[in-house]
Amino acid sequence: MRSVKANFLVKEYINKNPLRVLVRAYSDEEVIPNSIRGFDYIRHPRLNKGLAFTLEERQTLGIHGLLASTVRTQEEQIAICKYSLERYGSPLNKHLYLAELLDTNEKLFYELMSTDVEKYLPLVYTPTVGLVCQRFGLVYKRPRGLFITIHDKGKIHQILRNWPESHVRAICFTDGERILGLGDLGAFGMGIPIGKLCLYTALAGVPPAHCLPITLDVGTNNQSLLEDPMYIGVRQKRVTGSAYDELIEEFMVACVKRYSQNVLLQFEDFALANATRLLDRYKNAYCTFNDDIQGTASVVVAGMYAACRITKKKLKENIYLFLGAGSAGVGIASLLCDAMVEEGISMEEAIKKVYMVDHEGLLSTKRQSGIPPHAVKFGKDMEPTKDFASLVTSLKPTCLVGASTVGGAFTPAILQQMAKNTERPQIFALSNPTVKAECTPQQAYDNTEGRCIYASGSPFPPTKYGGKTYYTGQGNNSYVFPGIALGVIICHARHVPDSMFLSAAKTLALCVTEKDLNLGRIYPHLNEVRNISNKIAASIINRAYDEKLAGMYPKPKDVDCLVQQYLYNTKYINYMPDCYNYPGSDSGIKVKTIEEMIAKSTKKTGSNKGCKK
Ligand code: NAI
Repeated sequence: MRSVKANFLVKEYINKNPLRVLVRAYSDEEVIPNSIRGFDYIRHPRLNKGLAFTLEERQTLGIHGLLASTVRTQEEQIAICKYSLERYGSPLNKHLYLAELLDTNEKLFYELMSTDVEKYLPLVYTPTVGLVCQRFGLVYKRPRGLFITIHDKGKIHQILRNWPESHVRAICFTDGERILGLGDLGAFGMGIPIGKLCLYTALAGVPPAHCLPITLDVGTNNQSLLEDPMYIGVRQKRVTGSAYDELIEEFMVACVKRYSQNVLLQFEDFALANATRLLDRYKNAYCTFNDDIQGTASVVVAGMYAACRITKKKLKENIYLFLGAGSAGVGIASLLCDAMVEEGISMEEAIKKVYMVDHEGLLSTKRQSGIPPHAVKFGKDMEPTKDFASLVTSLKPTCLVGASTVGGAFTPAILQQMAKNTERPQIFALSNPTVKAECTPQQAYDNTEGRCIYASGSPFPPTKYGGKTYYTGQGNNSYVFPGIALGVIICHARHVPDSMFLSAAKTLALCVTEKDLNLGRIYPHLNEVRNISNKIAASIINRAYDEKLAGMYPKPKDVDCLVQQYLYNTKYINYMPDCYNYPGSDSGIKVKTIEEMIAKSTKKTGSNKGCKK
């Protein structure tokens, strides 16, 4: 069967709304390929509806009898999924159940996710995805994403052509060297781009067919993996230097050649040195960003904007002290400075308000170990010190940012000093996982007389202090990167400049309600993330047009509407063909027998002359 109702509807809607076509032409998962036949509807996760195929559909599509007789609604299926999921004890098993669901019925998986993002996000992404990566050799079943190895140099474009989707708009890729806080997991890192792109769809509505996860397997320096019989990657030490750089270069060029100039290329979980170096090299030449650096920065600066609503101060009126000057810390500090510049001070003045400490101590121009290249601009002309607590006393910061991976580094004494420095001290304890948080919300409230504004990187349960319950916010990158990607994809942006991350931060901060702030939360509830992503996408599109970076002209009149029209639909569609008649196909001429019909016909046309009887 070729034409289905959806196909017809798409055509009809294309006629009505040509602008939408610019966007939708790539995203019609509803347009079913001609080659799809009967059993494919069940076998293909993008089309499968399980028992939700109606009897009419089953008979028409030729799948009747292949399913049990009961017909269920999608809502009933969701209820069954929830029940099944509850029966699994460990998060890893829950994750595997969800992965299986995604592999068999894509729409049902994403519809389930949308019913409770806060609950399912930790199962699909952090922290569970960390476990998944560690055991990737064991859980790896169905191909999902591409592996490109160091031995594939010269053939990358050819490999990209093996991917079955031809309208990819976003690629998330890793080399597996710094997977979450777990270090070098080599090819096992594949769980991360898979998970990230899953969130593109679940949290922002990017159609799954537009997303391609890739692992660049250049080996691993993780000796235990090299010796692990379950390891599925190239068994050799990491390739570095020019051979590594050439692979990345060929990869970037091949992606653009295969999927167009404005395919979005998201760097994910690269080690610090490569992350900053490669971002600097490619960000003005490709449509690319690094979530670890820029996404983190955006979400944390959003929290700082929201905190301004409580303190009634501007960003530039604060003093910031960072513990940790890695990709997250320096990314945040850099965007924060951009934000302060927008408030009307010079970049030089902004940088003066930001002090950074790493494992070697204060970033001081006088320290013997020097300052890592990515953080040089934050070096201060001060005496070197490793005494973080003394800096909290002498510099009198009003905001502490922890991105150090050192659990408990914000000691009670440090927090008490913060309470002396300012009326509403801001404490960002961002390190993950939970045990690595620089302090817990309980410690923060207890040691600041409940006056602090607290946010963490990992989720914490509600905290009680002084008879009040605080629901602290989590500076989760998931608030921003899916929405940013959505906006970039829709308007075919050529680049993803830092200004877009600032737009996203401001938009997210505006989504924080007064009620959230009263509960102690400087981030909205995670279940709001779909709406937030849409708003962020609209702000990104507007910014792209302002900066002449959009690849789709003219600018649409209604950007919000444009976003809505692109979104992936998690509801099932009806596969019944749209049957119709030709006008006037009934001639009105009545005949009883074939002979009578022939006689009437020849009488009219005389066309039987010369015919043999
Ligand atoms: P990274 O490895 O690039 O940087 C770590 C930094 O901490 C380095 O500057 C290092 O010198 C410093 N450090 C290590 N030990 C220290 C010590 N004893 N005292 C002072 N500084 C010390 O790591 P990255 O990517 O910057 O991440 C840092 C932490 O932030 C991780 O725990 C990560 O999970 C978390 N993070 C949280 C995010 C969020 O909440 N949205 C997003 C990204 C990262």
